[in-house]
Amino acid sequence: MAKKELSKIDELVLKNEEALLGGGQKRIDAQHSKGKLTARERISMLLDEGSFEEIGKLVTHRSKDFGLDKEHYLGDGVVTGYGNINGRLTYVFSQDFTVFGGSLSESHAEKIVKIMEMAMKNGAPVIGLNDSGGARIQEGVVSLAGYADIFYRNTLASGVVPQISAIMGPCAGGAVYSPAITDIILMVEKSSYMFVTGPNVVKTVTHEEVTSEELGGAQTHSSKSGVTHFACSNEVECIKTIRQLMSYVPQNCEEDAPVYPYQLRDETREILDSIVPENANMPYDIREVITGIVDEESFLEVHENFAENIVVGFARLAGRSIGIVANQPAVLAGVLDIHSSTKAARFVRFCDSFNVPLLVLEDVPGFLPGTDQEWNAIITNGAKLLYAFSEATVPRVTVITRKAYGGAYDVMNSKHIGADINYAWPTSEIAVMGAKGAAEIIFKREISGAKDPQQKLDEKVTEYTEKFANPYIAASRGYIDEVILPRNTRKKLISTFKMLENKVDQLPKKKHGNIPL
Ligand code: HXC
Repeated sequence: MAKKELSKIDELVLKNEEALLGGGQKRIDAQHSKGKLTARERISMLLDEGSFEEIGKLVTHRSKDFGLDKEHYLGDGVVTGYGNINGRLTYVFSQDFTVFGGSLSESHAEKIVKIMEMAMKNGAPVIGLNDSGGARIQEGVVSLAGYADIFYRNTLASGVVPQISAIMGPCAGGAVYSPAITDIILMVEKSSYMFVTGPNVVKTVTHEEVTSEELGGAQTHSSKSGVTHFACSNEVECIKTIRQLMSYVPQNCEEDAPVYPYQLRDETREILDSIVPENANMPYDIREVITGIVDEESFLEVHENFAENIVVGFARLAGRSIGIVANQPAVLAGVLDIHSSTKAARFVRFCDSFNVPLLVLEDVPGFLPGTDQEWNAIITNGAKLLYAFSEATVPRVTVITRKAYGGAYDVMNSKHIGADINYAWPTSEIAVMGAKGAAEIIFKREISGAKDPQQKLDEKVTEYTEKFANPYIAASRGYIDEVILPRNTRKKLISTFKMLENKVDQLPKKKHGNIPL
């Protein structure tokens, strides 16, 4: 009996069904057995229900070498398209590990490039869900070219639309440089890793024995290297965090972030009066100040485990998105060092790229001294933060809660580098340095020549403290716009950011600046 010909309709239905299976049920089961979701499951969890529209479902690879002419999978290892997050257009690519380990072929790269270009033209974010064995080994240089095409688009899209990368499996070799150029990286604990060269190469070259997890797992990159901004305990948490993140940022550099409905009420927060300890050397957790100021449950900390002496993150103030940069007196007294400077600088630039106003909470004893810091270029790295603030044209407000010492006073969004408004709490000490250090230097001879040097030192410390360890000299000069009661901070900031809502500021005409990288 002659085989019944498939109708054209049935042919398409079958092709679509085949595409949904990626590398086949066995490999899907293998993916699940590792505790990982498939590329499509991840997309359907990320986007609003039923909103995903796929592009390039029937794309296949073109390679004929090493038996690839006999093995084709519809979609070629990456699911691409668009959909909505909280009703807002979002482009997405999700690498499918069940097809040649999610490895990147020429056509796989073309699919990613296609949606990146659409995202740029249509002004919407790109989210990449990465799970890949790297370059499609059978394709050689063609695959490398594909990576470069993606890196180039990542760079062009930088500052145009938000780019988010989630690492949900392997991401090794040159492949790491696409996420590295994007704005935010999230990793999943235990099932993802990122490194330029893996444990085997490391062992051969440096004789170090290290596991993939130690070398490039989520914990490593969220705490040691700072490569990733979030270490999520599982894929579901990772995807939820991406959805949450998107609620604070606009669709592109020409828009503002979404505004959440908010009815003004009594905005006084008495709790803020009692957070800063009487003793200026006692620590406190700046997060208590943050949560006391911002809308309830709206604070999303970014880079939580890295350079903990500075806290950065998004929040809402009366329903509007702000980016927060805050010295953390509970860790290393909130000192600025290499890592905290680069962490904050990158966050400031992300906010400025996408019109998210900046709130700085300042309690900083200065820059961290030592050979380690100097030899690793605290000069260049500290300058990154200074440069990032100076260049930012979004509304910028600082509240000094306690110490604002030395060069760090200038760097932490002072009015001198373009901040719109600086407030200080009455607990502020705005000075070149701490009173004891200052007295020891400027009254050195007087102290050593005194009958009781300790008594003299104490006297001089008190004298210096009374004169300089307060906000009033800065306020008398207008460097501080107002000394405010802590309890009124939230109220004050709501009206300040409202006042700055339509700020227009422009940098001098130039090709681009030369940030000290
Ligand atoms: C083609 C690949 C592949 C690759 C994996 N596969 N990586 N196919 N190119 N790069 C295939 C496997 O053959 C296998 O096919 C399937 O994917 C699953 O792989 P497994 O090894 O069974 O899975 P697992 O044990 O989980 O190990 C995953 C892995 C490993 C750690 C990623 O596959 C691996 O080490 N792959 C090679 C990684 C690599 O060296 N890539 C090139 C890096 S250089 P079947 O048919 O059995 O399902 C690079 C340069 C980029 O990426 C430069 C850009 C500038």
